Amino acid sequence: MQNVLITGAKGQLGKDGLGVFKEVPGITGIDLPEVDLSDRFACFEFLNRLKPEVIINCAAYTAVDACESDPSCWKANAELPEHLAEWVENNHAFLVHVSTDYVFSGNKPLYEASVETDLPEPVSEYGKSKRAGEQAIAEQTDRFAILRTAWLYGANGNNFLKTMLRLTLQNPKKKLKVVNDQYGSPTWSYTLARQIRVVAEQQATGFFHATSEGYCSWYDLACTFLEELGVEHHFVPCGSEAFPTPTKRPANSILENKNLKEREMNLFRSWEEELSEYVAQQGEKILKEIRAL
Ligand SMILES: NC(=O)c1ccc[n+]([C@@H]2O[C@H](COP(=O)([O-])OP(=O)(O)OC[C@H]3O[C@@H](n4cnc5c(N)ncnc54)[C@H](OP(=O)(O)O)[C@@H]3O)[C@@H](O)[C@H]2O)c1
Repeated sequence: MQNVLITGAKGQLGKDGLGVFKEVPGITGIDLPEVDLSDRFACFEFLNRLKPEVIINCAAYTAVDACESDPSCWKANAELPEHLAEWVENNHAFLVHVSTDYVFSGNKPLYEASVETDLPEPVSEYGKSKRAGEQAIAEQTDRFAILRTAWLYGANGNNFLKTMLRLTLQNPKKKLKVVNDQYGSPTWSYTLARQIRVVAEQQATGFFHATSEGYCSWYDLACTFLEELGVEHHFVPCGSEAFPTPTKRPANSILENKNLKEREMNLFRSWEEELSEYVAQQGEKILKEIRAL
């Protein structure tokens, strides 16, 4: 594999992707403001110059609540992947695209996981725009893999874990409420980047759920993270109604990596093991980063 392009290269997943693909000849990262890939002309001009063999699309409009009132999320989440897929089809390249648990309604009975053959029924603008991106790709080309992930955390940028650590360090004795009625599969962006590499190398096509094994609530996740880090906390479980948001959060975001397992490609371990390794590798750096805020 050579000439790999990673879009959204300054984002949480994109940065890990650049690390995982770093020794691949002709690896390139691109992000805003260099090229707005949702602009079809700018996108094609850039791709025609670069001629990537594989495109890993990590670019997206990921501010879930902002999507409710900002229709421009459709450009990044639906139009951008469509342009990439059109170019891939016309140039015999391969597209790995990253999607989300939000393409599902989240209304499955607890703790039943969604598999790739379940019918997507997005309820939020973010979910609808991401689903439109998936459909646009599948209409343009067969040369694609779509990996749906959820509850991402990584070394770069902000995430739920860093927020909970910051709030705890800023208020060491305060009881902090954490939502305990939404369930999902927390996923380390570094492992997802490694999984993307395996899929890209094999040019495995179709839809793949790509999250850690098992599930937990946000409360479980926050407690486990701080305990792994050795930081005392006073988290208190609460219901979603304590944190009203413009987008209703899915109660059940649990995904099952059925296709990856059937094709013997699944790299993910349990969310507890993944989190433990994340803390072992990144814990000191994250503590330093959050203490410096
Ligand atoms: N984060 C999660 O918990 C989560 C959960 C499920 C699925 N996902 C999916 O995983 C993927 C990666 O997420 P992430 O957390 O790494 O996202 P991220 O940190 O927000 O990174 C996305 C990157 O894409 C860039 N981008 C946006 N519009 C663009 C455009 N028109 N042209 C070029 N670049 C553009 C963004 O630039 P700006 O910052 O300048 O806008 C940003 O650097 C996304 O597809 C997301 O939908 C994420």
